[in-house]
Amino acid sequence: MTKYVINGENKLEGSVDISGSKNSALPIIAACILNGGKTNLYNVPNINDTEGMLEILKNLGCNIKKKGKKICIDSSKINKYDIDSKLMNKMRSSVIIVGAILARFKKASFSYPGGCEIGARPIDLHIKGFRKMGINIDESTGYIVGKCDKIKPTEIQLDFPSVGATENLILVSVFTDGETVIRNVAMEPEIEDLQNFLNKMGAKVSGAGSNVIRIIGVKKLKEISYTIMPDRIETGTFLTYAAMSGGNVEVCKCNTEHIIPILTKLEESGCRIYNEKNRLALIAPKRLKAIDFQTLPYPGFPTDMQSVFLSMLTVAKGTSTVTENIFENRFKCVSELSKMGAKISVLGSSCVIKGVKRLHGTIVKAADLRGGAALIGAGIKARGTTVIENGDFIERGYDNIEFKLKNLNIDIKKIKEHVN
Ligand code: UD1
Repeated sequence: MTKYVINGENKLEGSVDISGSKNSALPIIAACILNGGKTNLYNVPNINDTEGMLEILKNLGCNIKKKGKKICIDSSKINKYDIDSKLMNKMRSSVIIVGAILARFKKASFSYPGGCEIGARPIDLHIKGFRKMGINIDESTGYIVGKCDKIKPTEIQLDFPSVGATENLILVSVFTDGETVIRNVAMEPEIEDLQNFLNKMGAKVSGAGSNVIRIIGVKKLKEISYTIMPDRIETGTFLTYAAMSGGNVEVCKCNTEHIIPILTKLEESGCRIYNEKNRLALIAPKRLKAIDFQTLPYPGFPTDMQSVFLSMLTVAKGTSTVTENIFENRFKCVSELSKMGAKISVLGSSCVIKGVKRLHGTIVKAADLRGGAALIGAGIKARGTTVIENGDFIERGYDNIEFKLKNLNIDIKKIKEHVN
């Protein structure tokens, strides 16, 4: 069990380097299964979710060597195609490994991921796509077993631009003997990173970043080295902390093109932003202005930034409205923010935030990754001491956040408690 303790009312000041993207690293680690050889990955974030994905690969028989942010994965000796259900249940996004296993072995067995902290997150779009490609999916035993003699290149129209389904269907298509076309795909930058990774291995994927992706099957893939792109949500999180604390930060090693919807909203709330290709500076106003926003698939405002922004708006001047359109259960931090003095009312998928001048520190509990990050923001702003329990959620997605915030003038301590 991890706790974060923050003594608030310090402003973020200084410079921070952004880590590799969690949501790029996860599908790319899964894709290392495809070449049946060695892959060197650089700039891999040191977070619990990447650890979880590596555990699954190890369990399948991969050999993994890790040195700081560099990981070498050798998938030549994989000796099974069933994903351990305990490991899979730990991390919902593990479902993106299924496409890679199916592509390599033409069979995979895995458990159906249950509901999770931010919503039901079904995988019907993944399954529908697999079936369209000629894979026989049997769900009758409690496990899902996928099998086929040959994966058929085909045309797939997604009902919704799901990030995970887009990635899974790209992965499953790499070795077909023809062209697969997937329409209404997710356009998130992480999909482009996966495309670049696969193409460097020798795959033929095109269209990532647009709403149609084409994959021409190849016979085999080669061993490569690849550097994971910067995390756009971590970038947005540090900028938002700076904005709400009234601070002034420089964020380095990021990709500014990926966070335009976030920058636009920060400017609307009164921040000044200086933008270079891989570097950003933000100067916060004396008091932020209230703004309205809604979450949408990329290039709309990212759902993964919703909670942190909501937390920021609790101290903005005026009334803000936030609408969550992607996940049905993403306002879990509201009750905790209210304990700190925030004035928020939730109405279905929207909430109305009446900005207050000050939050006060108390004991709060993280209920999910981004909601936990929202509580860190509130703790930075609040008067007094904030204790955030269930900090393990935060470690799923933020690489060394305590160290980075300390370097930015924030009084934060991480406490690891051992539970017997
Ligand atoms: C990915 C990201 C997550 C981000 C989300 C949306 C990773 C590891 N995680 O999650 O951080 O918040 O994209 O940007 O990249 N849905 C279905 N059926 C499906 C698949 C999805 O109904 O088969 C629904 C989900 O319940 C959700 C919506 O579609 O309401 C979006 O989900 P999806 O884009 O698939 O998100 P993930 O890939 O799970």
